[in-house]
Amino acid sequence: MGCAVINALRLNGVVYSYEDGTRALDGVDLCIEAGERVALVGPNGAGKSTLLHILDALYLPTEGELEIMGAKVTKKTAPDATRRAGFLFQDPDDQIFMPRVWDDVAFGPINMGLDEEEVTRRVERGLSLAGVTEYADRVPHHLSFGEKKRVAIAGILAMDPEIFLMDEPTANLDPQGRRALVNVLLSLNKTMVIATHDLSVAFELTDRVIVLKRRVLYDGDFRGLMARPDVITEANLELPSLVRALEGWRKRTGREFEMPLTVDEAIETLSRKLP
Ligand SMILES: Nc1ncnc2c1ncn2[C@@H]1O[C@H](COP(=O)(O)OP(=O)(O)OP(=O)(O)O)[C@@H](O)[C@H]1O
Ligand SMILES: [Mg+2]
Repeated sequence: MGCAVINALRLNGVVYSYEDGTRALDGVDLCIEAGERVALVGPNGAGKSTLLHILDALYLPTEGELEIMGAKVTKKTAPDATRRAGFLFQDPDDQIFMPRVWDDVAFGPINMGLDEEEVTRRVERGLSLAGVTEYADRVPHHLSFGEKKRVAIAGILAMDPEIFLMDEPTANLDPQGRRALVNVLLSLNKTMVIATHDLSVAFELTDRVIVLKRRVLYDGDFRGLMARPDVITEANLELPSLVRALEGWRKRTGREFEMPLTVDEAIETLSRKLP
């Protein structure tokens, strides 16, 4: 895949090895344009979280290059790069550390040097979008895992970064919370890289999916991925039940139609194809 002149994120031959020698990434080439939303999928241990740490310049590539907004990231420029992105960690316990939810969500905006009024506005917005307004005075440590995840999401939304790096944002959210978050993310016009095991969420959020297994196995749209059972198997993926059901129906009935990717598209297809 060709690269635009200036990409929000660009990786060239990136290798990342942990200190114990585990080679988590083994030659990743990737270009993500400004404003693009991509889903990052792949089996456990594929290197998704590692890649997000690299995109946030928290880890520097062992080999290869990382560019953020056209500038090469080095040890010296890494802290600036880190500040430009909002990183939702896979485990909210790695993210939340203040003794009160409000203060935790306010931590990012305060660090950005915003005035008190703006901090308040952003915290209220973040809490509201993440559906945790009523938890403002709670002790984060006492919250359930899903509640903590929501608080961590509120913190990222309050920072309103240029680039959203989200590691399993919908894992542990209840179904309504998951849908609400998908809608919030869809409403934001930002560069986003979203690691998820939930292909339905990936389908709803974005058109571009990157399948990772230490290197990029597939980079393209969902229809292309559906035509690659080899990749689906190698990456331990499973197409959403909606797609599997319609695929089975197509085989059984011999009807020809473009595979729908959302519930609305499926209703449309069935209305047209059923007598
Ligand atoms: N600190 C570490 N030291 C050594 N190896 C590590 C470390 N962190 C991760 N790894 C290894 O690097 C590989 C990639 O891990 P990573 O967490 O990036 O995978 P992932 O795709 O996010 O997996 P999951 O779907 O389970 O979240 C794994 O083999 C993991 O065991
Ligand atoms: Mg992970």
